[in-house]
Amino acid sequence: MKLIYKKLNILLLFILVSHISFAHEGMWLPHLLKQIEGTMKEMGMKMSAEDIYSVNKGSLKDAIAHFGGGCTSSIISSQGLLLTNHHCGYGQIQSHSSVENNLLRNGFWAATQKDELPNPGLTATFIRRIEDVTEAALTGVNSNMTEAERQSTIDKNLNALGAQIAKKKDEDHFFRAFYYGNQYLLFITVTYRDVRLVGTPPESIGKFGSDTDNWVWPRHTGDFALFRVYAGSDNQPADYHETNQPYRPSKHLNVSMDGVEADDFTLVFGFPGRTQQYIPAAGVAMNLNAINPPRIAIRDTTLQILNKAMRADEATRIQYASKYARIANAWKKWIGENLGLAQTNAVWKKKSMEMEFQERVSGHPRYENLLPDMNRLYEEITPLAVASEYYNEIVLRNIEILTPARLMATLAARFNDNGEKGYQDYLTRITPYLEGFHKNYNSDLDQQVFTSLFQIYAEQGNPVYTHPLVRENFTRQHAHANTEMFFQNSMFNDFTSFLDFIKGDPTEVVEIISTDTLVNFYLTLQDHYAETVARPLQLIQDDLDKLMREYMAAQQEVMKEKTFYPDANSTLRVTFGKVEGYQPEGKPRYEYQTWLSGVVEKYIPDDYEFDVPPRLLELQKNKDFGPYGVDGKMPVCFIGSNHTTGGNSGSPAIDAYGNLIGLNFDRVWEGTMSDLNFDPSICRNIMVDARYILFIIDKYANARHIVDEMTLVYPKTK
Ligand code: ARG
Ligand code: GLU
Repeated sequence: MKLIYKKLNILLLFILVSHISFAHEGMWLPHLLKQIEGTMKEMGMKMSAEDIYSVNKGSLKDAIAHFGGGCTSSIISSQGLLLTNHHCGYGQIQSHSSVENNLLRNGFWAATQKDELPNPGLTATFIRRIEDVTEAALTGVNSNMTEAERQSTIDKNLNALGAQIAKKKDEDHFFRAFYYGNQYLLFITVTYRDVRLVGTPPESIGKFGSDTDNWVWPRHTGDFALFRVYAGSDNQPADYHETNQPYRPSKHLNVSMDGVEADDFTLVFGFPGRTQQYIPAAGVAMNLNAINPPRIAIRDTTLQILNKAMRADEATRIQYASKYARIANAWKKWIGENLGLAQTNAVWKKKSMEMEFQERVSGHPRYENLLPDMNRLYEEITPLAVASEYYNEIVLRNIEILTPARLMATLAARFNDNGEKGYQDYLTRITPYLEGFHKNYNSDLDQQVFTSLFQIYAEQGNPVYTHPLVRENFTRQHAHANTEMFFQNSMFNDFTSFLDFIKGDPTEVVEIISTDTLVNFYLTLQDHYAETVARPLQLIQDDLDKLMREYMAAQQEVMKEKTFYPDANSTLRVTFGKVEGYQPEGKPRYEYQTWLSGVVEKYIPDDYEFDVPPRLLELQKNKDFGPYGVDGKMPVCFIGSNHTTGGNSGSPAIDAYGNLIGLNFDRVWEGTMSDLNFDPSICRNIMVDARYILFIIDKYANARHIVDEMTLVYPKTK
């Protein structure tokens, strides 16, 4: 009796969860929207699937570009004007900045197209079409193959296929695996290589709230920047040239002046990076309990050291601003992720779904052992995954000097393999990096991080996987002195002379590299890691990948009531939801919109996170919002229930008719666990309100000519 009751409960919960989640959850492939078009229309969408993705006519997808390979961007004028986040264009904005002409601090608005600033290396990639090539990819693959055999067969198939694809002159292609290798898709792309900076607000608007407000709602950041795509005279991609013309797109997004209201339909179109929605409970538990805690602790230590130094010295603050932001961004997300996973009982929820799955596959010879086998593998892999995290965070990510040490080891290897030419080629390649490194490097600070992190490694790392050299030399008593010894005896001790020295006689340099304390320390750790951690980890990972592929297929087969979207893999996706606030447990309800008055409430004069430009204060004081305000208030940001992740930064938020209403840039604190467990009640994405973008360009910066290029529309009020 009790058992039946429990089963029923689980079934109910399962149906409930899968039903609710269907409303908002999902990162959908744009060429397969037909299967969810009905749901989107029920939620208020007035467009058709064909308006979003079509190979026969201009559709929304033609206005969406992968920005520099990491972020998303969209075309918002007939002259190739490109909208993305300030934090996505940060590197470019920084590269045009100097003490005399500080674009980060002052902002920048090109008065004419001639004033727009080129950015070598920056690209914008559009997707021309997507095709399913699963059958061709998996020809000759069978279940008796090892993972390596399977992969090599697939690679051969795809290479052969790639050679015969019909492509136009400027088109490229790539293949990508979906559903953990159950499906393969072909993407035909076109990449523009001349992308210029058109406008950016100052950091006090574009990065307002900085790290303190990052991942947090209510938010008041104008996180946007404007670029322009340039093309050759044939409107096709061209290398930078003065005579290139603004790209004339087949489609650009119109900008809505009507703003958003509660429950309005929203669609976010972009390139989400990575999610793991379908991994078993054991995988979620591993992230929650084993992986995230040491990652967070290690970065905690780094950030405390950097923060103290940055607060004490302005030059250090400038040097470390970007590094600090990068380290803090993931650190804060993991903290939020763990809180959210715990609070929503994510592991328990997954486990109850797994009980339902087991029930349905009971008696099925291939499927019924999947979960028990995966659980066993997760148990085996966990200590290795943790050891790998220690190594990555300490050796590769947080301590700075071990990166040049790694590069020097490679430089020596190139010399030994390919002589002088190998040496010079590699040196030319890494020199810009080393010079950039030098410009923002503070050795004293790095030594403090080195001491503290190796002490953590020595005292908290699993002794089975931690090199004895670390365990013996970096306990509390020895860490400081040994750090000093390592640095003092290294070629990196004086970085300026080091940079000169490596331009000299390669034989001599390689000789010194081979005896360098830090290079050798790095190599010792690296070899030990490869042998004791990376290799066994990969063996288990291969087995796990195979089971995951089968588990994914099994879920799709036995849970027919659910529509499965593939996990994010940096390919173009559509997500949809509504404009809506949320109520985290034990907290008051959060509204969906923030206002410029809230910027003034957060204002701290001269603070590096919360300073506000005088002109903005004045506009708020006079309520001088032009046509962009509503009822004497200026909207700034809003949230919605769109399922997004890293990579969706810069994605346009689009209304029911296909107009731009906002610009995605973040998620709310309670919902950062959505990569592993999307919960529609508290997972929200954060967008800059399109009206705020127009207001900043027009009223704050007096760059009306940029707004004039856009097509402003009034879908609700017309
Ligand atoms: N959290 C956002 C993202 O993951 C914004 C990061 C940039 N902003 C910052 N304060 N670091 O990219
Ligand atoms: N800020 C993130 C990015 O750069 C997007 C926010 C998220 O992870 O949802 O892609």
